Amino acid sequence: MRVPYLDLKAIHEPLEEELHRCFFEVMDESYFLHGREVTEFERAFSEKLDVEYCLGTANCTDSLFIVLKMLGIGDGDEVIVPAMTWITDAEVVSNLGASPVFVDIDPITYTIDTSKIEAVITSKTKAIVPVHLYGQMADMTAICEIAERHGIKVIEDCAQAHFASQNGKFAGSFGDAAVFSFYPTKNLGALGDAGAIVTNDKSLCEACRKMANHGALDKHSHEFPGMNSRMDTLQAAVLLLKLDYIDQWNEERRKLATAYTQAVGGINGLILPQFGGENQHVFHIFNILTSKRDELKHFLSEAEIQTQIHYPKALPFTQAYQHLGFQSGDFPEAFRLQNEGLSLPIYPGMEGEMQEFVIEKVKEFFS
Ligand SMILES: Cc1ncc(COP(=O)(O)O)c(C=O)c1O
Repeated sequence: MRVPYLDLKAIHEPLEEELHRCFFEVMDESYFLHGREVTEFERAFSEKLDVEYCLGTANCTDSLFIVLKMLGIGDGDEVIVPAMTWITDAEVVSNLGASPVFVDIDPITYTIDTSKIEAVITSKTKAIVPVHLYGQMADMTAICEIAERHGIKVIEDCAQAHFASQNGKFAGSFGDAAVFSFYPTKNLGALGDAGAIVTNDKSLCEACRKMANHGALDKHSHEFPGMNSRMDTLQAAVLLLKLDYIDQWNEERRKLATAYTQAVGGINGLILPQFGGENQHVFHIFNILTSKRDELKHFLSEAEIQTQIHYPKALPFTQAYQHLGFQSGDFPEAFRLQNEGLSLPIYPGMEGEMQEFVIEKVKEFFS
């Protein structure tokens, strides 16, 4: 049986009629940018997250760039980011002329190790970017406390954690601002690129809105050199529709994660994600760890089961940051994840028999 890592068709097929309606409505109105659906999505998304303001953007990478720039971060500044995450969190900092300062990850949650943050704070540190990796939240109580003590900003990267929560509060509602991705494969995905910035700070949101729109709120009133990073109307219409389904989809992901955990949780040499307690995980990724990762990946691939690696290199070990000269021992947990982590298929609409097949093959590999 062929098991894809992710099947976007399985997510979209049940919505086909509604998606067609979205498409025809946007065509009919023909406001492809600045359409009413963008404002409606911004309102609905911020309300559901329980934050005051939301700005739709072209993608999450731009969102982070815009927020950091509008917070005045640039030449000579330092921004703390986890060693294991998608490249966005470091590259944006570098592209602003600042330096990403890497911190290792926690071995249980795979998010930034809060016990190692204070050791790297200097007079140049301007912000921390916690990433809620795989759909599990970083320890926001500890991070916000540290940031407050040192007078630095917190910008949450929620690209993998739509409506994950901690102590009943959603990811994105803790920091000074948060950024989201609606890349098609995300838990809440558009039909192309899209992103958002959320914050409770009105003036920060307004500054970001200008930055994302050529430095202007109104046409031709450019207050400073900005950029073009807008969410388009069709993406907003699709996201508005999908917002009604996100709770159900996240629940489906949690059920699949629980089924994996119950079935292969007892296998010696296999580490599974830990979840529960005050953290509501949304399982964007179901990542398992084994020292036989490459052999397991190959074995599953022979059985036509697709898996992925998130990510094959922790950021300090990518070519982009190799010049900093870090060694594996500088970030042992991130290094372990790059070598031992394997992401199993998980998505809403995944058929039970597909998951049973994956479980059977994982058990067979270890037996
Ligand atoms: C943790 C994380 N941050 C940022 C991004 C970047 O998102 P986008 O592709 O919307 O720029 C991603 C997307 O893969 C991500 O997983």
